[in-house]
Amino acid sequence: MVDMIESVLHEDRVFKAAVGEGACFSSMGDYHAMCRRFEEDYEGTWADLARTHLRWREAFTQDLDDSNPPFYRWFADGALNVAENCLDRHVQAGLGERTAIVWEGEQGEVRHLTYAYLLEQVCRAANVMHSLGVEAGDRVVIYMPMIPETAIAMLACARIGATHSVVFGAFSSSSLRDRIEDAAARLVITADGGARRGGVHALKPFVDEALSEGCHTVEHLLVVKHAGCDVSWKAGRDCDWHSLLAESSPECAAIALPSEHPLFILYTSGSTGKPKGIVHSTAGYLLWARLTMLWSFDYRPDQDVFWCTADVGWITGHTYLIYGPLVCGGTTVMYEGVPTYPDAGRVWQICERLSVSVFYTAPTAIRALIKAGDVWPNRSDLSSLRVLGTVGEPINPEAWMWYYRVIGKERCPIVDTWWQTETGGHMLVPLPFAMATKPGSAALPLPGIQVEIVDEEGGKVSHGGGLLVVTKPWPSMLRGVWGDPARYVETYWNLFDGQYYIAGDGARRDGDGYFWIMGRVDDVLNVSGHRLGTMEIESALVSHHAVAEAAVVGRADDLKGEAICAFVVLKESRVDALTLRKHVAAEIGPIAKPDDIYLVEGLPKTRSGKIMRRLLRDIVMKRDIVQDVSTLEDRAVIEHILATPVQ
Ligand code: PRX
Repeated sequence: MVDMIESVLHEDRVFKAAVGEGACFSSMGDYHAMCRRFEEDYEGTWADLARTHLRWREAFTQDLDDSNPPFYRWFADGALNVAENCLDRHVQAGLGERTAIVWEGEQGEVRHLTYAYLLEQVCRAANVMHSLGVEAGDRVVIYMPMIPETAIAMLACARIGATHSVVFGAFSSSSLRDRIEDAAARLVITADGGARRGGVHALKPFVDEALSEGCHTVEHLLVVKHAGCDVSWKAGRDCDWHSLLAESSPECAAIALPSEHPLFILYTSGSTGKPKGIVHSTAGYLLWARLTMLWSFDYRPDQDVFWCTADVGWITGHTYLIYGPLVCGGTTVMYEGVPTYPDAGRVWQICERLSVSVFYTAPTAIRALIKAGDVWPNRSDLSSLRVLGTVGEPINPEAWMWYYRVIGKERCPIVDTWWQTETGGHMLVPLPFAMATKPGSAALPLPGIQVEIVDEEGGKVSHGGGLLVVTKPWPSMLRGVWGDPARYVETYWNLFDGQYYIAGDGARRDGDGYFWIMGRVDDVLNVSGHRLGTMEIESALVSHHAVAEAAVVGRADDLKGEAICAFVVLKESRVDALTLRKHVAAEIGPIAKPDDIYLVEGLPKTRSGKIMRRLLRDIVMKRDIVQDVSTLEDRAVIEHILATPVQ
């Protein structure tokens, strides 16, 4: 079954494409045929797909509007509604009784929400939001656990044209405040708390704290009582989700919104400053959510049970937990708890019990499950699985092989999807049942996506490494950085004078044209699939009164992909590493806590005062210092750092 074909780069295993009867793409011929359609008529092909795959209220006549690059617009004179495409459309097609969301709580509670029920709940929530003064064009921040109400809240925003901004539930109150303020949100939707490892993770207190300072645009807080924890209540501001929904009308007309209406803002880290609000559109985003579900996973809405384990607070949760499966009219699984609770068999039991056929997770989760041992998956019947996906970070070949052998039984194609918050949906994908796979390679660009590797001057590199860029605007691309058009241009387009979208990843191509992602080329870390800026963590450290200076770099970590290493120079008062970790958790969230802290006397700097981060990276990686240190201001600093124990 396993077919070794040829040898490439360091990883030379190649597995023939599995045979998938009736697959969307069942051969390389199918793939090339679709690519050819785009080559012959790029914009026209996108427009045809948009007409076929989405339900429009007003037909569009414009395909791509590139009159003001890089502020591209797609299908701009059309109008539609995302909630209508995800719900009404299916109910009207007779699928009202099909399960839209299967939710499982950590304690084993299960809820099946049909399309008809979801539509009713979304209408009620939309009416409640109206009654709280939310109108089309307003922003709503959603800070929630993984419960169906989160999906209902997002779709209710989409129904009335409010732009949502979901904030990951493990972000701290100050991160939450920053996002509420940046988006100037009118409403915040939260829950009392969520389940976490057998206990409860309270959420509302973080919102209360965030709102205790600034956040003047917020008029109300809508609270889902879910976890049963005691919460304080501010009369006049706080409203109870369940009682308001029960009192509201189950009908609410979906409004027709222009294609370019901002569906959501999602904050993500970059190499400079605070996280930026990535803005996604209505039509282009939804089109790609649907197409990539169908293409990348060969998703069959009438048969498949799709489980994406990502939290809804990240782009993967937006596109492949909520919008993608629902716009296709399929069934999506939502699990509230941690995947290893009460033991490492949980994920596989859910797969068996719910007959999951397409499973999509991150390499970091795979590595944690490998560590727990094969006994766990071997106890479950995994025969319902058909396609296995990964996302978020480069997958190491060992993890890929385990996923392929132990979970997929060498039957299921492994779909390693490369993409980003900014791209809205998948970009590089080994199409299941069409492409041979190589452990660790995201294979080839999807039809319609034009990707190249370029050198530092912007010249195309056919073999070897370079910067990954996208050479043509595509419908689901970000529309900008919320409130900061200059930052959008500067971050993604300036390097090559607006010619290419710069992804921020390094990549190389092998002889078959397959792409191998080498990781970020900027000061962004990928910790357990979570994207964090080194500068953000440095700012959090420096905001502690005892810290004079800090430099953060990443080092390779077997489980997390990358671990956070912080070099901290203290002012005279002494604090310990634990205090600093807690401080970072309070400033950003527990995911940003440094793994290694070095309390040092000084940081290596050039004579012009720039911190030499590459040198620090060499130190934490225990590599020989290859960098030219002749520009180093004070060489004794290095000797001292090398002698400093990690804490
Ligand atoms: O470095 C790449 C890595 O994750 C970054 C994007 O992070 P984020 O916007 O949080 O979105 C994550 C989910 C799409 C990319 O710049 N990345 C994502 N997928 C892969 C990956 N690196 C290697 N292989 C992947 N499949």
